[in-house]
Amino acid sequence: MSKKRKLIAIILAAGEGTRMKSQTPKVLQTLAGRSLLDWVLRGARYAGAGGRVVVLGHEHERVRKTLPSDVATTVQARQLGTGHAVQTARAGLKNLSGDVLVLCGDAPLIRPQTLKRLLATHRRLGAAATVLTAEVRAARGYGRVVRDTQDPRWVARIVEERDASAAERAIREINSGAYCFSLPLLWKVLGRLKNSNRKREYYLTDVVELLRRQGEKVAAYRTPEENEILGVNTRQDLARAGSVLNQRKLQALMDSGVTIWDPASTWVDPDVKVGPDTEIWPGTFLTGSTVVGRKNRIGPQTHLDCTRTGKAVSIRYSILERSVLGNYVRVGPFSHLRPGTKVESYVVIGNYAETNRSRIKQGVKIGHMSYIGDATVGRHANIGAGVITANFDGARKHATRIGEQAFLGSSTVLVAPCSIGRRALTGAGAVVKAGTRVPAETVVVGVPARVLKKRAARSR
Ligand code: UD1
Ligand code: CA
Repeated sequence: MSKKRKLIAIILAAGEGTRMKSQTPKVLQTLAGRSLLDWVLRGARYAGAGGRVVVLGHEHERVRKTLPSDVATTVQARQLGTGHAVQTARAGLKNLSGDVLVLCGDAPLIRPQTLKRLLATHRRLGAAATVLTAEVRAARGYGRVVRDTQDPRWVARIVEERDASAAERAIREINSGAYCFSLPLLWKVLGRLKNSNRKREYYLTDVVELLRRQGEKVAAYRTPEENEILGVNTRQDLARAGSVLNQRKLQALMDSGVTIWDPASTWVDPDVKVGPDTEIWPGTFLTGSTVVGRKNRIGPQTHLDCTRTGKAVSIRYSILERSVLGNYVRVGPFSHLRPGTKVESYVVIGNYAETNRSRIKQGVKIGHMSYIGDATVGRHANIGAGVITANFDGARKHATRIGEQAFLGSSTVLVAPCSIGRRALTGAGAVVKAGTRVPAETVVVGVPARVLKKRAARSR
Protein backbone atom coordinates (compact mmCIF):
# COMPACT_ATOMS: atom_id res chain seq x y z
CA MET A 1 0.00 0.00 0.00
CA SER A 2 1.52 3.32 -1.02
CA LYS A 3 1.19 5.97 1.59
CA LYS A 4 0.76 9.61 0.66
CA ARG A 5 4.05 11.44 1.14
CA LYS A 6 4.08 13.46 4.31
CA LEU A 7 4.59 17.21 4.35
CA ILE A 8 5.69 19.30 7.29
CA ALA A 9 6.85 22.90 7.58
CA ILE A 10 9.70 24.56 9.45
CA ILE A 11 9.34 28.30 9.90
CA LEU A 12 12.41 30.36 10.71
CA ALA A 13 11.58 33.12 13.16
CA ALA A 14 14.53 33.52 15.52
CA GLY A 15 15.82 36.84 14.19
CA GLU A 16 15.27 40.11 16.01
CA GLY A 17 14.50 42.37 13.09
CA THR A 18 16.60 45.30 14.29
CA ARG A 19 15.70 47.45 11.31
CA MET A 20 12.09 47.65 12.44
CA LYS A 21 13.29 49.70 15.45
CA SER A 22 10.54 48.23 17.56
CA GLN A 23 9.98 46.76 21.01
CA THR A 24 7.84 44.12 19.32
CA PRO A 25 9.65 41.13 17.77
CA LYS A 26 9.50 41.42 14.00
CA VAL A 27 7.39 38.33 13.40
CA LEU A 28 4.71 39.70 15.75
CA GLN A 29 4.30 42.96 13.85
CA THR A 30 0.76 43.08 12.55
CA LEU A 31 -0.14 43.24 8.96
CA ALA A 32 -3.71 43.33 7.69
CA GLY A 33 -5.10 42.17 11.02
CA ARG A 34 -2.67 39.29 11.67
CA SER A 35 0.92 38.91 12.76
CA LEU A 36 3.60 38.27 10.13
CA LEU A 37 4.13 34.83 11.64
CA ASP A 38 0.42 34.05 11.58
CA TRP A 39 0.29 34.75 7.85
CA VAL A 40 3.17 32.34 7.28
CA LEU A 41 1.70 29.64 9.55
CA ARG A 42 -1.63 29.81 7.76
CA GLY A 43 0.11 29.66 4.38
CA ALA A 44 1.86 26.46 5.46
CA ARG A 45 -1.33 24.88 6.73
CA TYR A 46 -3.41 25.77 3.67
CA ALA A 47 -0.61 24.35 1.51
CA GLY A 48 -1.12 21.02 3.27
CA ALA A 49 1.62 20.91 5.92
CA GLY A 50 0.55 18.43 8.59
CA GLY A 51 3.00 19.50 11.27
CA ARG A 52 4.44 22.96 11.76
CA VAL A 53 7.59 23.77 13.72
CA VAL A 54 8.64 27.34 14.44
CA VAL A 55 12.28 28.12 15.23
CA LEU A 56 12.23 30.82 17.88
CA GLY A 57 15.06 32.89 19.32
CA HIS A 58 14.68 36.56 20.02
CA GLU A 59 11.98 36.97 22.72
CA HIS A 60 10.94 33.35 22.27
CA GLU A 61 8.65 33.31 25.33
CA ARG A 62 6.66 36.20 24.01
CA VAL A 63 6.35 34.81 20.50
CA ARG A 64 5.45 31.31 21.71
CA LYS A 65 2.46 32.64 23.65
CA THR A 66 0.86 33.83 20.42
CA LEU A 67 1.05 30.46 18.64
CA PRO A 68 -1.81 27.99 18.13
CA SER A 69 -1.52 24.86 20.30
CA ASP A 70 -0.80 22.50 17.38
CA VAL A 71 2.37 24.39 16.43
CA ALA A 72 5.64 22.98 17.81
CA THR A 73 8.60 25.18 18.65
CA THR A 74 12.35 24.94 19.11
CA VAL A 75 14.69 27.60 20.38
CA GLN A 76 17.82 28.70 18.56
CA ALA A 77 19.70 30.34 21.41
CA ARG A 78 22.16 32.20 19.18
CA GLN A 79 21.32 33.24 15.63
CA LEU A 80 24.16 31.57 13.78
CA GLY A 81 22.39 31.54 10.42
CA THR A 82 19.44 30.09 8.55
CA GLY A 83 21.14 26.68 8.12
CA HIS A 84 21.86 26.48 11.84
CA ALA A 85 18.25 27.48 12.55
CA VAL A 86 16.94 24.50 10.58
CA GLN A 87 19.35 22.24 12.47
CA THR A 88 17.78 23.20 15.78
CA ALA A 89 14.49 21.71 14.54
CA ARG A 90 16.13 18.39 13.71
CA ALA A 91 15.94 16.69 17.10
CA GLY A 92 12.14 16.65 17.09
CA LEU A 93 11.86 15.47 13.47
CA LYS A 94 14.55 12.81 13.21
CA ASN A 95 12.38 9.87 12.33
CA LEU A 96 10.22 11.65 9.79
CA SER A 97 10.52 11.06 6.08
CA GLY A 98 8.67 12.88 3.33
CA ASP A 99 9.10 16.54 2.44
CA VAL A 100 9.53 19.72 4.39
CA LEU A 101 8.69 23.28 3.48
CA VAL A 102 11.18 25.72 4.98
CA LEU A 103 9.69 29.20 5.21
CA CYS A 104 10.80 32.53 6.66
CA GLY A 105 8.63 34.05 9.37
CA ASP A 106 9.09 37.46 7.79
CA ALA A 107 7.78 36.63 4.29
CA PRO A 108 3.99 36.79 4.70
CA LEU A 109 2.93 37.28 1.08
CA ILE A 110 3.59 33.83 -0.34
CA ARG A 111 0.20 32.38 -1.24
CA PRO A 112 -0.77 28.79 -0.38
CA GLN A 113 -1.32 27.98 -4.05
CA THR A 114 2.27 29.05 -4.78
CA LEU A 115 3.56 26.72 -2.06
CA LYS A 116 1.44 23.96 -3.58
CA ARG A 117 3.04 24.60 -6.97
CA LEU A 118 6.47 24.61 -5.37
CA LEU A 119 5.72 21.21 -3.85
CA ALA A 120 4.24 19.86 -7.09
CA THR A 121 7.36 20.90 -9.04
CA HIS A 122 9.57 19.33 -6.38
CA ARG A 123 7.76 15.99 -6.57
CA ARG A 124 7.33 15.95 -10.34
CA LEU A 125 11.06 16.49 -10.92
CA GLY A 126 12.13 14.15 -8.14
CA ALA A 127 14.35 16.89 -6.73
CA ALA A 128 16.20 16.78 -3.42
CA ALA A 129 15.47 20.48 -3.00
CA THR A 130 13.31 23.00 -4.84
CA VAL A 131 13.73 26.72 -4.35
CA LEU A 132 10.92 29.23 -4.67
CA THR A 133 12.33 32.04 -6.80
CA ALA A 134 11.15 35.16 -8.57
CA GLU A 135 12.55 37.44 -11.19
CA VAL A 136 12.61 40.98 -9.84
CA ARG A 137 13.59 44.42 -11.07
CA ALA A 138 15.52 45.29 -7.93
CA ALA A 139 17.31 42.20 -6.60
CA ARG A 140 19.11 44.15 -3.89
CA GLY A 141 19.63 42.35 -0.61
CA TYR A 142 18.48 38.95 -1.83
CA GLY A 143 20.43 35.79 -2.58
CA ARG A 144 20.93 35.23 -6.32
CA VAL A 145 19.95 31.97 -8.01
CA VAL A 146 22.77 30.64 -10.17
CA ARG A 147 21.40 28.17 -12.73
CA ASP A 148 23.27 25.17 -14.06
CA THR A 149 25.11 26.26 -17.22
CA GLN A 150 24.63 22.83 -18.87
CA ASP A 151 20.94 22.51 -18.05
CA PRO A 152 19.29 25.67 -16.74
CA ARG A 153 16.33 23.67 -15.42
CA TRP A 154 18.49 22.99 -12.38
CA VAL A 155 19.97 25.29 -9.76
CA ALA A 156 23.76 25.15 -9.31
CA ARG A 157 23.94 27.30 -6.20
CA ILE A 158 22.59 30.30 -4.37
CA VAL A 159 24.96 33.12 -3.62
CA GLU A 160 24.29 35.81 -1.03
CA GLU A 161 24.65 39.35 -2.28
CA ARG A 162 27.56 40.17 -0.01
CA ASP A 163 29.46 37.10 -1.24
CA ALA A 164 28.55 37.53 -4.92
CA SER A 165 30.76 38.54 -7.83
CA ALA A 166 29.71 41.46 -10.02
CA ALA A 167 28.38 39.04 -12.65
CA GLU A 168 26.36 37.17 -10.03
CA ARG A 169 24.94 40.39 -8.66
CA ALA A 170 23.56 41.13 -12.12
CA ILE A 171 21.35 38.02 -11.89
CA ARG A 172 17.75 39.05 -11.37
CA GLU A 173 16.37 35.72 -10.29
CA ILE A 174 16.36 35.74 -6.52
CA ASN A 175 15.87 33.27 -3.68
CA SER A 176 12.60 33.90 -1.84
CA GLY A 177 13.85 32.09 1.26
CA ALA A 178 11.14 29.43 0.85
CA TYR A 179 12.13 25.90 -0.14
CA CYS A 180 10.94 22.37 -0.32
CA PHE A 181 13.39 19.65 0.74
CA SER A 182 13.28 15.91 0.91
CA LEU A 183 13.74 15.51 4.68
CA PRO A 184 16.22 12.59 4.72
CA LEU A 185 18.42 14.27 2.10
CA LEU A 186 18.32 17.58 3.95
CA TRP A 187 19.46 15.95 7.20
CA LYS A 188 22.17 14.11 5.31
CA VAL A 189 23.97 17.30 4.25
CA LEU A 190 22.88 19.90 6.80
CA GLY A 191 25.56 18.97 9.33
CA ARG A 192 28.24 19.73 6.77
CA LEU A 193 27.52 23.44 6.43
CA LYS A 194 30.46 25.78 7.02
CA ASN A 195 30.36 29.41 8.03
CA SER A 196 33.20 30.51 5.78
CA ASN A 197 31.42 33.54 4.34
CA ARG A 198 31.27 37.29 4.91
CA LYS A 199 28.67 37.01 7.66
CA ARG A 200 30.31 34.01 9.43
CA GLU A 201 26.89 32.32 9.38
CA TYR A 202 25.73 28.82 8.52
CA TYR A 203 23.74 29.53 5.38
CA LEU A 204 20.86 27.21 4.53
CA THR A 205 21.41 28.23 0.93
CA ASP A 206 24.74 26.36 0.87
CA VAL A 207 22.77 23.13 1.09
CA VAL A 208 22.15 23.52 -2.65
CA GLU A 209 25.80 22.95 -3.52
CA LEU A 210 26.19 20.16 -0.97
CA LEU A 211 23.24 18.29 -2.46
CA ARG A 212 24.60 18.75 -5.97
CA ARG A 213 27.89 17.26 -4.91
CA GLN A 214 25.97 14.19 -3.78
CA GLY A 215 24.58 13.93 -7.29
CA GLU A 216 21.17 15.16 -6.20
CA LYS A 217 18.95 17.46 -8.24
CA VAL A 218 18.02 20.94 -7.08
CA ALA A 219 15.10 22.53 -8.90
CA ALA A 220 13.39 25.92 -8.82
CA TYR A 221 9.81 27.04 -9.05
CA ARG A 222 9.66 30.63 -10.26
CA THR A 223 6.50 32.45 -9.25
CA PRO A 224 5.25 34.98 -11.79
CA GLU A 225 4.03 37.29 -9.05
CA GLU A 226 7.05 39.29 -8.08
CA ASN A 227 5.60 40.86 -4.96
CA GLU A 228 4.89 37.49 -3.34
CA ILE A 229 8.44 37.02 -2.21
CA LEU A 230 8.78 40.36 -0.41
CA GLY A 231 10.46 39.85 2.95
CA VAL A 232 9.59 42.38 5.65
CA ASN A 233 12.69 43.97 7.12
CA THR A 234 11.71 47.62 7.53
CA ARG A 235 8.59 49.67 8.21
CA GLN A 236 8.55 50.54 4.52
CA ASP A 237 8.37 46.84 3.68
CA LEU A 238 5.58 46.47 6.24
CA ALA A 239 3.54 49.17 4.51
CA ARG A 240 4.14 47.62 1.09
CA ALA A 241 3.20 44.14 2.29
CA GLY A 242 0.08 45.50 4.00
CA SER A 243 -0.99 47.13 0.80
CA VAL A 244 -0.46 43.94 -1.22
CA LEU A 245 -2.55 41.86 1.20
CA ASN A 246 -5.28 44.51 1.23
CA GLN A 247 -5.45 44.69 -2.55
CA ARG A 248 -5.74 40.88 -2.70
CA LYS A 249 -8.69 41.01 -0.30
CA LEU A 250 -10.39 43.80 -2.26
CA GLN A 251 -9.85 41.89 -5.49
CA ALA A 252 -11.56 38.83 -4.00
CA LEU A 253 -14.48 40.96 -2.80
CA MET A 254 -14.91 42.60 -6.19
CA ASP A 255 -14.80 39.17 -7.83
CA SER A 256 -17.64 38.11 -5.52
CA GLY A 257 -19.88 41.01 -6.52
CA VAL A 258 -18.95 43.89 -4.22
CA THR A 259 -18.45 47.40 -5.64
CA ILE A 260 -15.40 49.18 -4.29
CA TRP A 261 -15.17 52.68 -5.69
CA ASP A 262 -11.68 53.45 -4.52
CA PRO A 263 -9.43 50.47 -3.72
CA ALA A 264 -6.62 52.86 -2.85
CA SER A 265 -8.43 54.24 0.20
CA THR A 266 -10.40 51.15 1.27
CA TRP A 267 -8.97 48.76 3.87
CA VAL A 268 -10.54 45.40 4.60
CA ASP A 269 -9.17 42.80 7.04
CA PRO A 270 -8.82 39.21 5.82
CA ASP A 271 -11.67 37.66 7.82
CA VAL A 272 -14.26 40.29 6.86
CA LYS A 273 -17.24 39.14 4.76
CA VAL A 274 -19.26 41.40 2.48
CA GLY A 275 -22.46 40.43 0.66
CA PRO A 276 -23.01 40.97 -3.07
CA ASP A 277 -24.25 44.26 -4.50
CA THR A 278 -22.88 46.15 -1.54
CA GLU A 279 -21.14 49.40 -2.45
CA ILE A 280 -18.12 50.51 -0.48
CA TRP A 281 -17.34 54.19 -0.76
CA PRO A 282 -13.90 55.79 -0.36
CA GLY A 283 -12.13 56.02 2.97
CA THR A 284 -13.80 52.96 4.47
CA PHE A 285 -12.23 50.48 6.93
CA LEU A 286 -13.78 47.09 7.63
CA THR A 287 -11.87 45.33 10.36
CA GLY A 288 -11.86 42.30 12.65
CA SER A 289 -14.77 39.91 12.30
CA THR A 290 -17.05 42.38 10.51
CA VAL A 291 -19.79 40.89 8.33
CA VAL A 292 -21.62 43.23 5.97
CA GLY A 293 -24.88 42.06 4.40
CA ARG A 294 -25.95 42.44 0.80
CA LYS A 295 -27.01 45.65 -0.92
CA ASN A 296 -25.45 47.83 1.77
CA ARG A 297 -23.97 51.21 1.10
CA ILE A 298 -20.97 51.70 3.39
CA GLY A 299 -19.01 54.95 3.54
CA PRO A 300 -17.58 57.28 2.63
CA GLN A 301 -15.27 57.68 5.64
CA THR A 302 -16.67 54.85 7.74
CA HIS A 303 -15.08 52.31 10.06
CA LEU A 304 -16.86 49.08 10.98
CA ASP A 305 -15.02 46.97 13.55
CA CYS A 306 -16.35 43.50 14.47
CA THR A 307 -19.79 44.67 13.38
CA ARG A 308 -22.55 42.79 11.58
CA THR A 309 -25.14 44.35 9.30
CA GLY A 310 -28.30 42.97 7.68
CA LYS A 311 -29.41 43.75 4.15
CA ALA A 312 -29.81 47.16 2.51
CA VAL A 313 -28.15 49.04 5.34
CA SER A 314 -26.69 52.49 4.71
CA ILE A 315 -23.88 53.86 6.87
CA ARG A 316 -22.15 57.14 6.06
CA TYR A 317 -19.28 58.97 7.82
CA SER A 318 -19.59 56.87 10.98
CA ILE A 319 -17.76 54.55 13.36
CA LEU A 320 -19.34 51.29 14.55
CA GLU A 321 -17.71 48.94 17.02
CA ARG A 322 -18.94 45.46 18.01
CA SER A 323 -22.48 46.34 17.01
CA VAL A 324 -25.20 44.33 15.31
CA LEU A 325 -27.65 45.91 12.86
CA GLY A 326 -30.80 44.47 11.29
CA ASN A 327 -32.14 45.19 7.78
CA TYR A 328 -32.79 48.61 6.20
CA VAL A 329 -31.01 50.50 8.98
CA ARG A 330 -29.62 53.98 8.27
CA VAL A 331 -26.69 55.37 10.25
CA GLY A 332 -24.97 58.72 9.97
CA PRO A 333 -23.59 60.99 8.99
CA PHE A 334 -21.24 61.29 11.97
CA SER A 335 -22.55 58.72 14.39
CA HIS A 336 -20.66 56.46 16.76
CA LEU A 337 -22.15 53.09 17.69
CA ARG A 338 -20.08 51.71 20.54
CA PRO A 339 -19.73 48.07 21.64
CA GLY A 340 -22.89 46.24 22.54
CA THR A 341 -25.25 48.28 20.41
CA LYS A 342 -28.00 46.08 18.96
CA VAL A 343 -30.17 47.70 16.35
CA GLU A 344 -33.27 46.10 14.86
CA SER A 345 -34.59 46.71 11.35
CA TYR A 346 -35.77 50.06 9.94
CA VAL A 347 -33.97 52.10 12.60
CA VAL A 348 -32.58 55.54 11.74
CA ILE A 349 -29.61 56.76 13.77
CA GLY A 350 -28.92 60.13 12.29
CA ASN A 351 -26.53 62.99 12.64
CA TYR A 352 -24.07 63.04 15.55
CA ALA A 353 -25.57 60.28 17.65
CA GLU A 354 -23.70 58.04 20.08
CA THR A 355 -24.94 54.72 21.40
CA ASN A 356 -23.38 52.28 23.85
CA ARG A 357 -24.52 48.88 25.22
CA SER A 358 -28.07 49.53 24.09
CA ARG A 359 -30.87 47.70 22.40
CA ILE A 360 -32.71 49.75 19.84
CA LYS A 361 -35.84 48.10 18.58
CA GLN A 362 -37.53 48.19 15.22
CA GLY A 363 -38.40 51.51 13.63
CA VAL A 364 -36.79 53.76 16.27
CA LYS A 365 -35.61 57.20 15.15
CA ILE A 366 -32.61 58.81 16.81
CA GLY A 367 -32.20 61.66 14.41
CA HIS A 368 -29.97 64.26 15.94
CA MET A 369 -27.20 64.68 18.54
CA SER A 370 -28.17 62.08 21.13
CA TYR A 371 -26.41 59.87 23.62
CA ILE A 372 -28.11 56.54 24.31
CA GLY A 373 -26.18 54.39 26.79
CA ASP A 374 -27.26 51.28 28.76
CA ALA A 375 -30.74 51.71 27.35
CA THR A 376 -33.51 49.69 25.80
CA VAL A 377 -35.53 51.68 23.32
CA GLY A 378 -38.94 50.24 22.40
CA ARG A 379 -40.31 49.89 18.88
CA HIS A 380 -41.08 53.07 16.96
CA ALA A 381 -39.97 55.37 19.78
CA ASN A 382 -38.90 58.81 18.63
CA ILE A 383 -35.80 60.25 20.27
CA GLY A 384 -35.80 64.03 19.79
CA ALA A 385 -32.78 66.20 19.10
CA GLY A 386 -30.24 66.26 21.92
CA VAL A 387 -31.84 63.58 24.11
CA ILE A 388 -29.33 62.27 26.62
CA THR A 389 -29.33 59.24 28.89
CA ALA A 390 -27.37 60.31 31.97
CA ASN A 391 -26.31 56.73 32.69
CA PHE A 392 -23.30 57.32 34.93
CA ASP A 393 -23.54 58.62 38.49
CA GLY A 394 -19.80 58.96 38.92
CA ALA A 395 -19.41 55.46 40.28
CA ARG A 396 -21.79 53.17 38.46
CA LYS A 397 -23.67 52.83 35.19
CA HIS A 398 -27.47 52.59 35.33
CA ALA A 399 -30.10 51.44 32.87
CA THR A 400 -32.83 53.37 31.08
CA ARG A 401 -35.94 51.83 29.56
CA ILE A 402 -37.88 53.67 26.92
CA GLY A 403 -41.24 52.16 26.01
CA GLU A 404 -42.52 51.63 22.50
CA GLN A 405 -43.83 54.66 20.62
CA ALA A 406 -42.54 56.95 23.37
CA PHE A 407 -41.84 60.46 22.14
CA LEU A 408 -38.94 62.25 23.79
CA GLY A 409 -38.88 66.00 23.27
CA SER A 410 -35.70 67.83 22.34
CA SER A 411 -33.02 67.94 25.04
CA THR A 412 -34.77 65.57 27.39
CA VAL A 413 -32.35 64.28 30.03
CA LEU A 414 -33.05 60.81 31.36
CA VAL A 415 -31.18 60.38 34.65
CA ALA A 416 -30.75 56.63 35.02
CA PRO A 417 -32.08 54.43 36.41
CA CYS A 418 -35.43 55.51 35.06
CA SER A 419 -38.09 54.38 32.67
CA ILE A 420 -40.45 55.97 30.20
CA GLY A 421 -43.73 54.13 29.70
CA ARG A 422 -45.12 53.13 26.36
CA ARG A 423 -46.45 56.07 24.33
CA ALA A 424 -45.38 58.55 27.02
CA LEU A 425 -44.20 61.98 25.87
CA THR A 426 -41.62 64.31 27.39
CA GLY A 427 -41.59 68.04 26.77
CA ALA A 428 -38.55 69.87 25.43
CA GLY A 429 -35.84 70.18 28.07
CA ALA A 430 -37.52 67.81 30.51
CA VAL A 431 -35.31 66.22 33.15
CA VAL A 432 -36.52 62.81 34.31
CA LYS A 433 -34.95 62.19 37.72
CA ALA A 434 -33.24 58.98 38.75
CA GLY A 435 -35.68 56.42 40.07
CA THR A 436 -38.63 57.86 38.12
CA ARG A 437 -41.03 55.65 36.26
CA VAL A 438 -42.99 57.76 33.83
CA PRO A 439 -46.32 55.97 33.37
CA ALA A 440 -47.47 54.84 29.95
CA GLU A 441 -49.53 57.27 27.85
CA THR A 442 -48.59 60.32 29.97
CA VAL A 443 -47.00 63.66 29.16
CA VAL A 444 -44.24 64.92 31.44
CA VAL A 445 -42.54 68.34 31.35
CA GLY A 446 -40.19 70.50 33.39
CA VAL A 447 -37.06 70.29 35.46
CA PRO A 448 -37.37 67.88 37.09
CA ALA A 449 -40.28 66.62 35.11
CA ARG A 450 -43.58 66.18 36.92
CA VAL A 451 -46.63 64.41 35.62
CA LEU A 452 -48.77 67.02 33.93
CA LYS A 453 -51.72 65.32 32.33
CA LYS A 454 -52.90 62.27 30.50
CA ARG A 455 -51.60 62.08 26.92
CA ALA A 456 -54.38 62.64 24.36
CA ALA A 457 -55.38 59.60 22.37
CA ARG A 458 -54.12 60.83 19.00
CA SER A 459 -51.09 62.90 20.04
CA ARG A 460 -47.66 61.51 19.15
C1 UD1 B 1 17.81 34.90 3.33
C2 UD1 B 1 18.52 34.03 2.30
C3 UD1 B 1 18.55 34.78 0.96
C4 UD1 B 1 17.13 35.12 0.55
C5 UD1 B 1 16.42 35.89 1.65
C6 UD1 B 1 14.96 36.07 1.30
C7 UD1 B 1 20.19 32.78 3.56
C8 UD1 B 1 21.63 32.63 3.85
N1 UD1 B 1 19.87 33.77 2.74
O1 UD1 B 1 18.59 36.06 3.50
O2 UD1 B 1 19.17 34.00 -0.02
O3 UD1 B 1 17.15 35.88 -0.65
O4 UD1 B 1 16.49 35.19 2.90
O5 UD1 B 1 14.34 36.92 2.21
O6 UD1 B 1 19.40 32.01 4.02
N2 UD1 B 1 16.70 33.31 10.95
C9 UD1 B 1 16.75 32.47 12.05
N3 UD1 B 1 17.95 32.19 12.62
C10 UD1 B 1 19.12 32.66 12.13
C11 UD1 B 1 19.06 33.52 11.01
C12 UD1 B 1 17.84 33.81 10.44
O7 UD1 B 1 15.71 32.01 12.53
O8 UD1 B 1 20.16 32.36 12.71
C13 UD1 B 1 15.40 33.63 10.36
C14 UD1 B 1 15.07 35.09 10.42
O9 UD1 B 1 14.35 35.40 11.59
C15 UD1 B 1 14.23 35.26 9.17
C16 UD1 B 1 14.76 34.22 8.21
O10 UD1 B 1 15.45 33.28 9.00
O11 UD1 B 1 12.86 35.01 9.41
C17 UD1 B 1 15.67 34.80 7.14
O12 UD1 B 1 16.81 35.33 7.80
P1 UD1 B 1 17.50 36.67 7.33
O13 UD1 B 1 18.66 36.95 8.22
O14 UD1 B 1 16.49 37.73 7.18
O15 UD1 B 1 18.06 36.21 5.91
P2 UD1 B 1 18.40 37.13 4.71
O16 UD1 B 1 19.74 37.75 4.94
O17 UD1 B 1 17.27 38.02 4.39
CA1 CA C 1 15.30 38.83 5.52
